[in-house]
Amino acid sequence: MRIISTAAAMQERALLWKRLGIRVGFVPTMGYLHAGHLSLVREARKCVGKNGKVVVSIYVNPAQFAPTEDLAKYPRDLKRDLKLCREAGVDVVFTPNDAEMYPRWGEATDEPAREDARPTGFSTYVVEEKLSQSMEGASRPTHFRGVTTVVAKLFNLVQPDAAVFGQKDFQQAAIIKHMVRDLNFPVKIIVAPTVREADGLAMSSRNKFLNAEQRAQAVILFHALRAASLAVKRKQVSAARLKTDVKEFVTAAPLARLDYVEFFDAETLFPVAQVKRGTQMALAVFFGKTRLIDNVRL
Ligand code: PAJ
Repeated sequence: MRIISTAAAMQERALLWKRLGIRVGFVPTMGYLHAGHLSLVREARKCVGKNGKVVVSIYVNPAQFAPTEDLAKYPRDLKRDLKLCREAGVDVVFTPNDAEMYPRWGEATDEPAREDARPTGFSTYVVEEKLSQSMEGASRPTHFRGVTTVVAKLFNLVQPDAAVFGQKDFQQAAIIKHMVRDLNFPVKIIVAPTVREADGLAMSSRNKFLNAEQRAQAVILFHALRAASLAVKRKQVSAARLKTDVKEFVTAAPLARLDYVEFFDAETLFPVAQVKRGTQMALAVFFGKTRLIDNVRL
């Protein structure tokens, strides 16, 4: 397994593979890998076969964190991540730093980039304007601009034939698909199912922030999705009614604070008035400062 940490070296290798006709599968991550990430790696391998190359990027992208968010505290363990990648048969791990990805950031200081430090060396962003307005985009207004920008950059550096994203971040995957279509990236986007803990909690690097009590109650997200699925199994229910029910349901976990719950069309992400089988449901719940998200197709 090769570790590449400069943008130039990554792109050079990608262009070499292209000349040789080698297929490339790509899994972008922010590291602190878990079984969910590793399932995406397996999906990428399936896509390109044993003669293809699987690239995993590990980069905690400052542009997708608001100044008030957990950028500095975001969990990191590169040594362990590299071991997991090696065991999973990854060919290249791309680990750029901020100075590589956003030139001039981080050059003078090790401080994480701040909003006001941003425009100096980097000023071209990719902005998706429709799907990124609701849910995660409403709660975190600059988040998706950071995601689409870094993913576009990574696509240009890795030149993948296929890239794998998790259903866990449903809205993110929908926005990336849209970006790829709108901007004609020659990349096939694959969305892989959410990998869960034994009790149903969706795996996430941020689960590490939960204390024992919060962790025990965090399964409420999964239970809320399941309860809503049951509620619409045989009949339609109004979204307003179901939202009230979910709010109440989540309150049963005393440490949980509901950020949002939405019922929407899986393609357009437009909210629906009537919830039925096939409607997509997503919710975000705070436990202390930790914000967890989950979603399901009902
Ligand atoms: P990160 O949160 O590290 O997630 C990397 C990929 O793993 C995403 O596609 C995410 O949806 C997927 N993933 C996370 N938890 C999962 C789970 N339990 N089951 C299946 N897949 C899961 O998402 C990001 O990083 C960043 O926004 C990124 C796309 C890398 C851009 O910076």
